[in-house]
Amino acid sequence: MNLVRQRDIAELDLALTGPGTPGGAFMRQFWIAIERSEDLQCGQAKPIRIMSEDYALYRGASGQAQVIAYRCPHRGAQMHLGWVEGDDIRCVYHGWKFDCSGQCNEQPAEEAGFARKVKMRTWPTREHMGLIYAYFGDGEPPQFPPFPAPTDEGLIENPVPPHIPCNYLQSFENSLDEVHVSFVHRTGGSHAGMYDLPEVAAEETEWGVLRTGRRKNGEVRLSLHYLPAVTRVIVPPMAGFDGVGGWKELYLHFVPIDDVHHKWMITYHVKVVGNDAERYLAKRDEYERKVAAAGPASELAREVMAGRLAFSDIQHPDRVRVQDIAVQAGQGLIADRSQEHLGRSDAAIIVWRKMMARELRAIAEGCPPKRWTPAPASVVPTLGF
Ligand code: FES
Ligand SMILES: [Fe+2]
Repeated sequence: MNLVRQRDIAELDLALTGPGTPGGAFMRQFWIAIERSEDLQCGQAKPIRIMSEDYALYRGASGQAQVIAYRCPHRGAQMHLGWVEGDDIRCVYHGWKFDCSGQCNEQPAEEAGFARKVKMRTWPTREHMGLIYAYFGDGEPPQFPPFPAPTDEGLIENPVPPHIPCNYLQSFENSLDEVHVSFVHRTGGSHAGMYDLPEVAAEETEWGVLRTGRRKNGEVRLSLHYLPAVTRVIVPPMAGFDGVGGWKELYLHFVPIDDVHHKWMITYHVKVVGNDAERYLAKRDEYERKVAAAGPASELAREVMAGRLAFSDIQHPDRVRVQDIAVQAGQGLIADRSQEHLGRSDAAIIVWRKMMARELRAIAEGCPPKRWTPAPASVVPTLGF
Protein backbone atom coordinates (compact mmCIF):
# COMPACT_ATOMS: atom_id res chain seq x y z
CA MET A 1 0.00 0.00 0.00
CA ASN A 2 1.30 3.46 -0.90
CA LEU A 3 2.24 5.64 2.05
CA VAL A 4 -0.05 8.65 2.36
CA ARG A 5 0.45 12.04 3.89
CA GLN A 6 -2.98 13.04 5.18
CA ARG A 7 -4.64 11.62 8.26
CA ASP A 8 -7.94 13.53 8.42
CA ILE A 9 -10.31 12.67 5.62
CA ALA A 10 -12.06 15.77 4.29
CA GLU A 11 -14.65 15.83 1.50
CA LEU A 12 -11.95 16.92 -0.92
CA ASP A 13 -9.87 13.84 -0.18
CA LEU A 14 -12.62 11.59 -1.49
CA ALA A 15 -12.17 13.08 -4.95
CA LEU A 16 -8.36 13.10 -5.27
CA THR A 17 -6.60 10.15 -6.92
CA GLY A 18 -3.04 11.33 -7.53
CA PRO A 19 -0.05 9.43 -6.14
CA GLY A 20 0.42 9.86 -2.39
CA THR A 21 -3.25 10.63 -1.67
CA PRO A 22 -5.51 8.26 0.32
CA GLY A 23 -8.01 8.28 -2.57
CA GLY A 24 -5.21 7.41 -4.98
CA ALA A 25 -4.12 4.49 -2.79
CA PHE A 26 -7.77 3.36 -2.57
CA MET A 27 -8.20 3.36 -6.35
CA ARG A 28 -4.89 1.60 -6.94
CA GLN A 29 -6.12 -1.51 -5.09
CA PHE A 30 -8.27 -2.42 -8.09
CA TRP A 31 -7.99 -3.18 -11.80
CA ILE A 32 -8.65 0.03 -13.78
CA ALA A 33 -10.02 0.08 -17.35
CA ILE A 34 -7.58 2.27 -19.29
CA GLU A 35 -8.24 1.92 -23.03
CA ARG A 36 -10.43 0.16 -25.59
CA SER A 37 -8.78 -3.00 -26.93
CA GLU A 38 -9.66 -1.90 -30.49
CA ASP A 39 -7.70 1.34 -30.00
CA LEU A 40 -4.38 -0.47 -29.59
CA GLN A 41 -3.19 -2.38 -32.64
CA CYS A 42 -0.29 -4.85 -32.66
CA GLY A 43 2.94 -2.89 -33.02
CA GLN A 44 1.36 0.34 -31.72
CA ALA A 45 2.55 2.34 -28.69
CA LYS A 46 0.79 5.35 -27.15
CA PRO A 47 0.98 7.58 -24.08
CA ILE A 48 -1.77 7.34 -21.47
CA ARG A 49 -2.47 9.42 -18.39
CA ILE A 50 -4.33 7.77 -15.52
CA MET A 51 -4.85 9.22 -12.02
CA SER A 52 -2.41 12.09 -12.68
CA GLU A 53 0.44 9.79 -13.78
CA ASP A 54 1.82 9.18 -17.26
CA TYR A 55 2.56 5.77 -18.75
CA ALA A 56 3.22 4.21 -22.12
CA LEU A 57 0.99 1.43 -23.43
CA TYR A 58 1.92 -0.86 -26.31
CA ARG A 59 0.80 -4.08 -27.95
CA GLY A 60 3.44 -6.57 -29.00
CA ALA A 61 3.40 -8.99 -31.93
CA SER A 62 1.88 -11.78 -29.78
CA GLY A 63 -1.11 -9.52 -29.07
CA GLN A 64 -0.18 -8.87 -25.45
CA ALA A 65 -0.92 -5.31 -24.26
CA GLN A 66 1.56 -3.91 -21.73
CA VAL A 67 1.71 -0.78 -19.57
CA ILE A 68 5.29 0.41 -19.03
CA ALA A 69 7.01 3.51 -17.65
CA TYR A 70 6.37 6.71 -19.56
CA ARG A 71 10.07 7.59 -19.76
CA CYS A 72 13.11 5.58 -20.73
CA PRO A 73 15.42 4.85 -17.77
CA HIS A 74 18.45 5.93 -19.86
CA ARG A 75 17.79 9.67 -20.26
CA GLY A 76 14.05 10.07 -20.07
CA ALA A 77 12.79 9.96 -23.66
CA GLN A 78 9.10 9.18 -24.04
CA MET A 79 8.77 5.45 -24.61
CA HIS A 80 5.77 5.65 -26.96
CA LEU A 81 8.02 7.34 -29.55
CA GLY A 82 9.96 4.11 -29.93
CA TRP A 83 9.53 0.95 -32.01
CA VAL A 84 7.65 -2.17 -30.99
CA GLU A 85 9.82 -5.16 -31.99
CA GLY A 86 8.14 -8.51 -31.39
CA ASP A 87 6.93 -8.21 -27.81
CA ASP A 88 9.75 -5.79 -26.92
CA ILE A 89 9.92 -2.02 -27.25
CA ARG A 90 12.96 -0.04 -28.36
CA CYS A 91 13.53 3.56 -27.25
CA VAL A 92 13.74 6.07 -30.08
CA TYR A 93 16.55 8.10 -28.51
CA HIS A 94 19.54 5.71 -28.30
CA GLY A 95 17.95 2.37 -29.17
CA TRP A 96 17.82 0.69 -25.79
CA LYS A 97 15.40 -2.23 -26.00
CA PHE A 98 13.22 -3.63 -23.21
CA ASP A 99 11.20 -6.82 -22.97
CA CYS A 100 7.61 -6.76 -21.74
CA SER A 101 8.76 -7.40 -18.16
CA GLY A 102 10.72 -4.12 -18.42
CA GLN A 103 14.16 -5.81 -18.53
CA CYS A 104 16.62 -4.03 -20.80
CA ASN A 105 18.06 -6.55 -23.28
CA GLU A 106 19.91 -4.40 -25.80
CA GLN A 107 21.98 -1.18 -25.70
CA PRO A 108 23.61 -0.69 -29.11
CA ALA A 109 26.20 1.90 -27.98
CA GLU A 110 27.03 0.46 -24.55
CA GLU A 111 29.31 -2.22 -23.14
CA ALA A 112 28.02 -5.77 -22.88
CA GLY A 113 26.70 -6.51 -19.40
CA PHE A 114 25.26 -3.06 -18.69
CA ALA A 115 21.81 -3.90 -20.11
CA ARG A 116 21.05 -6.57 -17.52
CA LYS A 117 21.51 -3.95 -14.76
CA VAL A 118 18.69 -1.76 -16.15
CA LYS A 119 15.02 -2.50 -15.69
CA MET A 120 12.04 -0.21 -16.18
CA ARG A 121 8.78 -0.45 -14.25
CA THR A 122 5.82 -2.26 -15.82
CA TRP A 123 2.28 -2.81 -14.53
CA PRO A 124 0.08 -5.92 -14.85
CA THR A 125 -2.11 -5.53 -17.93
CA ARG A 126 -5.08 -7.69 -19.00
CA GLU A 127 -8.17 -7.51 -21.25
CA HIS A 128 -11.85 -8.27 -20.67
CA MET A 129 -15.02 -7.51 -22.64
CA GLY A 130 -13.24 -5.21 -25.10
CA LEU A 131 -11.30 -3.12 -22.59
CA ILE A 132 -7.66 -3.10 -21.49
CA TYR A 133 -7.16 -3.03 -17.72
CA ALA A 134 -4.08 -2.29 -15.64
CA TYR A 135 -3.25 -2.73 -11.98
CA PHE A 136 -1.31 0.23 -10.56
CA GLY A 137 -1.04 -0.91 -6.94
CA ASP A 138 1.78 -2.61 -5.10
CA GLY A 139 1.94 -6.36 -4.62
CA GLU A 140 -0.24 -8.94 -6.32
CA PRO A 141 -3.29 -7.68 -8.21
CA PRO A 142 -6.77 -8.86 -7.23
CA GLN A 143 -8.56 -11.59 -9.18
CA PHE A 144 -9.13 -10.96 -12.89
CA PRO A 145 -11.58 -10.26 -14.43
CA PRO A 146 -12.94 -8.00 -11.70
CA PHE A 147 -16.48 -8.95 -12.68
CA PRO A 148 -17.81 -11.76 -14.86
CA ALA A 149 -19.00 -11.37 -18.44
CA PRO A 150 -22.78 -11.67 -18.90
CA THR A 151 -23.99 -15.19 -19.64
CA ASP A 152 -26.88 -14.19 -21.96
CA GLU A 153 -26.26 -14.13 -25.70
CA GLY A 154 -25.78 -10.78 -27.37
CA LEU A 155 -23.28 -8.24 -28.66
CA ILE A 156 -20.52 -6.67 -26.60
CA GLU A 157 -19.63 -3.19 -27.77
CA ASN A 158 -17.37 -0.42 -26.50
CA PRO A 159 -18.24 3.07 -27.76
CA VAL A 160 -15.54 5.75 -28.05
CA PRO A 161 -14.85 6.92 -24.46
CA PRO A 162 -16.02 10.50 -23.88
CA HIS A 163 -13.66 12.78 -21.95
CA ILE A 164 -15.38 14.81 -19.23
CA PRO A 165 -13.90 18.08 -17.90
CA CYS A 166 -14.34 17.50 -14.16
CA ASN A 167 -13.37 15.16 -11.33
CA TYR A 168 -14.47 11.54 -11.80
CA LEU A 169 -16.36 11.30 -8.51
CA GLN A 170 -19.17 13.65 -9.47
CA SER A 171 -19.91 11.58 -12.58
CA PHE A 172 -19.78 8.38 -10.56
CA GLU A 173 -22.13 9.95 -8.00
CA ASN A 174 -24.51 10.89 -10.81
CA SER A 175 -24.68 7.19 -11.68
CA LEU A 176 -25.67 6.47 -8.04
CA ASP A 177 -28.46 9.07 -8.30
CA GLU A 178 -31.56 7.73 -10.01
CA VAL A 179 -33.75 10.74 -9.19
CA HIS A 180 -31.72 13.01 -11.50
CA VAL A 181 -33.14 11.11 -14.48
CA SER A 182 -36.61 12.60 -14.03
CA PHE A 183 -35.23 16.15 -14.14
CA VAL A 184 -31.96 16.33 -16.09
CA HIS A 185 -33.45 14.27 -18.92
CA ARG A 186 -36.91 15.81 -18.86
CA THR A 187 -36.22 18.04 -21.86
CA GLY A 188 -36.04 15.12 -24.27
CA GLY A 189 -33.76 12.31 -25.38
CA SER A 190 -33.62 8.65 -24.58
CA HIS A 191 -34.75 8.90 -20.94
CA ALA A 192 -37.47 11.55 -21.37
CA GLY A 193 -40.75 11.16 -19.52
CA MET A 194 -39.88 7.65 -18.51
CA TYR A 195 -40.07 7.37 -14.79
CA ASP A 196 -42.01 8.24 -11.72
CA LEU A 197 -39.72 9.01 -8.78
CA PRO A 198 -38.21 5.94 -7.10
CA GLU A 199 -37.61 5.46 -3.42
CA VAL A 200 -33.84 4.95 -3.32
CA ALA A 201 -31.98 2.65 -0.94
CA ALA A 202 -28.47 1.18 -1.00
CA GLU A 203 -26.38 -1.31 0.91
CA GLU A 204 -22.67 -2.01 1.03
CA THR A 205 -21.80 -5.57 0.06
CA GLU A 206 -18.61 -7.64 -0.12
CA TRP A 207 -18.08 -6.46 -3.73
CA GLY A 208 -19.36 -2.86 -3.79
CA VAL A 209 -22.79 -1.26 -3.36
CA LEU A 210 -26.20 -2.62 -4.39
CA ARG A 211 -28.75 0.12 -5.10
CA THR A 212 -32.50 -0.32 -5.22
CA GLY A 213 -35.07 2.02 -6.74
CA ARG A 214 -38.57 1.07 -5.61
CA ARG A 215 -41.52 2.34 -7.69
CA LYS A 216 -45.01 3.05 -6.44
CA ASN A 217 -46.29 -0.07 -8.23
CA GLY A 218 -43.92 -2.23 -6.14
CA GLU A 219 -41.39 -2.90 -8.94
CA VAL A 220 -37.73 -2.71 -7.85
CA ARG A 221 -34.85 -1.64 -10.05
CA LEU A 222 -31.47 -3.10 -9.03
CA SER A 223 -28.25 -1.36 -10.03
CA LEU A 224 -24.74 -2.48 -9.15
CA HIS A 225 -21.75 -0.34 -8.25
CA TYR A 226 -18.44 -2.17 -8.48
CA LEU A 227 -15.10 -0.99 -7.13
CA PRO A 228 -13.45 1.35 -7.52
CA ALA A 229 -15.97 3.35 -9.64
CA VAL A 230 -17.94 1.17 -12.06
CA THR A 231 -21.71 1.20 -12.47
CA ARG A 232 -23.62 -1.72 -14.00
CA VAL A 233 -27.17 -0.80 -14.89
CA ILE A 234 -29.86 -1.38 -17.52
CA VAL A 235 -30.39 1.68 -19.69
CA PRO A 236 -32.67 2.64 -22.60
CA PRO A 237 -31.25 2.93 -26.13
CA MET A 238 -29.82 6.34 -27.06
CA ALA A 239 -32.36 8.56 -28.81
CA GLY A 240 -30.52 8.13 -32.13
CA PHE A 241 -31.22 4.37 -32.12
CA ASP A 242 -35.02 4.84 -32.36
CA GLY A 243 -35.48 1.94 -29.94
CA VAL A 244 -33.57 -0.64 -32.05
CA GLY A 245 -31.64 -3.07 -29.80
CA GLY A 246 -33.92 -2.39 -26.84
CA TRP A 247 -32.66 -1.71 -23.34
CA LYS A 248 -28.99 -2.53 -22.92
CA GLU A 249 -26.87 -3.56 -20.00
CA LEU A 250 -24.26 -0.88 -19.38
CA TYR A 251 -20.93 -1.22 -17.57
CA LEU A 252 -19.70 2.35 -17.05
CA HIS A 253 -16.19 2.89 -15.69
CA PHE A 254 -15.36 6.39 -14.42
CA VAL A 255 -11.62 6.62 -14.95
CA PRO A 256 -9.63 9.60 -13.62
CA ILE A 257 -7.16 11.12 -16.09
CA ASP A 258 -6.17 13.65 -13.43
CA ASP A 259 -8.16 15.31 -10.65
CA VAL A 260 -10.15 17.55 -13.02
CA HIS A 261 -10.59 15.31 -16.08
CA HIS A 262 -11.88 11.80 -16.47
CA LYS A 263 -13.14 9.47 -19.15
CA TRP A 264 -16.03 7.06 -19.36
CA MET A 265 -14.91 3.59 -20.41
CA ILE A 266 -18.15 2.02 -21.61
CA THR A 267 -19.17 -1.56 -22.31
CA TYR A 268 -22.67 -2.35 -23.56
CA HIS A 269 -24.17 -5.81 -23.61
CA VAL A 270 -26.86 -5.59 -26.28
CA LYS A 271 -29.22 -8.55 -26.05
CA VAL A 272 -29.70 -9.18 -29.77
CA VAL A 273 -28.80 -12.21 -31.90
CA GLY A 274 -29.28 -13.32 -35.54
CA ASN A 275 -31.35 -10.95 -37.70
CA ASP A 276 -31.95 -8.62 -34.77
CA ALA A 277 -28.19 -8.26 -34.37
CA GLU A 278 -27.83 -7.43 -38.11
CA ARG A 279 -30.56 -4.83 -37.83
CA TYR A 280 -28.94 -3.40 -34.72
CA LEU A 281 -25.51 -3.10 -36.37
CA ALA A 282 -27.02 -1.34 -39.40
CA LYS A 283 -28.76 1.09 -37.06
CA ARG A 284 -25.53 1.60 -35.14
CA ASP A 285 -23.71 2.59 -38.35
CA GLU A 286 -26.44 5.15 -39.06
CA TYR A 287 -26.29 6.38 -35.45
CA GLU A 288 -22.50 6.76 -35.57
CA ARG A 289 -22.75 8.83 -38.76
CA LYS A 290 -25.27 11.11 -37.03
CA VAL A 291 -23.03 11.43 -33.96
CA ALA A 292 -20.00 12.25 -36.13
CA ALA A 293 -22.01 14.97 -37.92
CA ALA A 294 -23.35 16.40 -34.63
CA GLY A 295 -19.90 16.75 -32.99
CA PRO A 296 -18.80 15.76 -29.48
CA ALA A 297 -21.52 15.87 -26.80
CA SER A 298 -18.96 17.38 -24.39
CA GLU A 299 -18.60 20.47 -26.66
CA LEU A 300 -22.35 21.07 -26.63
CA ALA A 301 -22.35 20.56 -22.86
CA ARG A 302 -19.75 23.38 -22.59
CA GLU A 303 -22.05 25.67 -24.61
CA VAL A 304 -24.97 24.85 -22.30
CA MET A 305 -22.85 25.44 -19.18
CA ALA A 306 -21.73 28.82 -20.56
CA GLY A 307 -25.35 29.83 -21.26
CA ARG A 308 -24.87 30.08 -25.03
CA LEU A 309 -27.30 27.19 -25.69
CA ALA A 310 -30.35 25.91 -23.81
CA PHE A 311 -31.03 22.24 -23.17
CA SER A 312 -34.14 22.60 -25.32
CA ASP A 313 -31.93 23.70 -28.29
CA ILE A 314 -29.99 20.42 -28.24
CA GLN A 315 -30.94 17.83 -30.86
CA HIS A 316 -27.84 15.64 -30.56
CA PRO A 317 -28.31 11.86 -31.07
CA ASP A 318 -26.63 11.52 -27.64
CA ARG A 319 -28.81 14.20 -26.11
CA VAL A 320 -28.82 12.41 -22.77
CA ARG A 321 -25.04 12.61 -22.69
CA VAL A 322 -25.02 16.39 -23.27
CA GLN A 323 -27.46 16.71 -20.37
CA ASP A 324 -25.44 14.49 -18.03
CA ILE A 325 -22.09 16.13 -18.81
CA ALA A 326 -23.52 19.63 -18.31
CA VAL A 327 -24.86 18.89 -14.83
CA GLN A 328 -21.83 16.90 -13.71
CA ALA A 329 -19.10 19.20 -15.04
CA GLY A 330 -21.34 22.17 -14.11
CA GLN A 331 -20.81 21.27 -10.42
CA GLY A 332 -17.27 22.60 -10.81
CA LEU A 333 -13.92 21.04 -11.63
CA ILE A 334 -14.05 19.35 -8.21
CA ALA A 335 -17.48 19.69 -6.60
CA ASP A 336 -17.45 21.42 -3.20
CA ARG A 337 -19.12 18.73 -1.11
CA SER A 338 -18.78 20.74 2.10
CA GLN A 339 -21.63 23.01 0.94
CA GLU A 340 -24.17 20.30 0.09
CA HIS A 341 -27.49 19.40 1.75
CA LEU A 342 -28.02 15.70 1.17
CA GLY A 343 -31.51 14.24 1.46
CA ARG A 344 -33.08 10.80 1.52
CA SER A 345 -32.97 10.46 -2.27
CA ASP A 346 -29.15 10.71 -1.98
CA ALA A 347 -29.08 7.45 0.00
CA ALA A 348 -26.76 5.64 -2.42
CA ILE A 349 -24.30 8.55 -2.57
CA ILE A 350 -24.25 8.67 1.23
CA VAL A 351 -23.52 4.93 1.50
CA TRP A 352 -20.69 5.19 -1.05
CA ARG A 353 -19.12 8.24 0.60
CA LYS A 354 -19.24 6.66 4.06
CA MET A 355 -17.57 3.56 2.68
CA MET A 356 -14.89 5.65 0.98
CA ALA A 357 -14.26 7.83 4.03
CA ARG A 358 -13.82 4.70 6.18
CA GLU A 359 -11.45 3.09 3.69
CA LEU A 360 -9.43 6.27 3.10
CA ARG A 361 -9.08 6.76 6.84
CA ALA A 362 -7.82 3.19 7.22
CA ILE A 363 -5.30 3.75 4.43
CA ALA A 364 -4.16 7.09 5.88
CA GLU A 365 -3.69 5.53 9.32
CA GLY A 366 -1.84 2.51 7.95
CA CYS A 367 -4.63 0.07 8.94
CA PRO A 368 -5.61 -2.77 6.58
CA PRO A 369 -8.39 -1.76 4.18
CA LYS A 370 -11.48 -3.96 3.67
CA ARG A 371 -10.88 -7.19 1.80
CA TRP A 372 -13.28 -7.02 -1.14
CA THR A 373 -14.38 -10.11 -3.03
CA PRO A 374 -14.80 -10.28 -6.83
CA ALA A 375 -18.26 -9.34 -8.06
CA PRO A 376 -20.47 -12.45 -8.19
CA ALA A 377 -22.11 -13.60 -11.43
CA SER A 378 -25.38 -14.23 -9.62
CA VAL A 379 -26.14 -10.58 -8.76
CA VAL A 380 -27.35 -8.77 -11.88
CA PRO A 381 -29.14 -5.50 -12.51
CA THR A 382 -32.87 -5.45 -13.18
CA LEU A 383 -35.04 -3.05 -15.16
CA GLY A 384 -37.61 -2.56 -12.40
CA PHE A 385 -40.47 -0.82 -14.18
S1 FES B 1 16.78 7.85 -23.61
FE1 FES B 1 16.10 5.90 -24.21
S2 FES B 1 17.83 4.98 -25.07
FE2 FES B 1 18.53 6.90 -24.43
FE1 LIG C 1 -28.25 10.91 -16.56
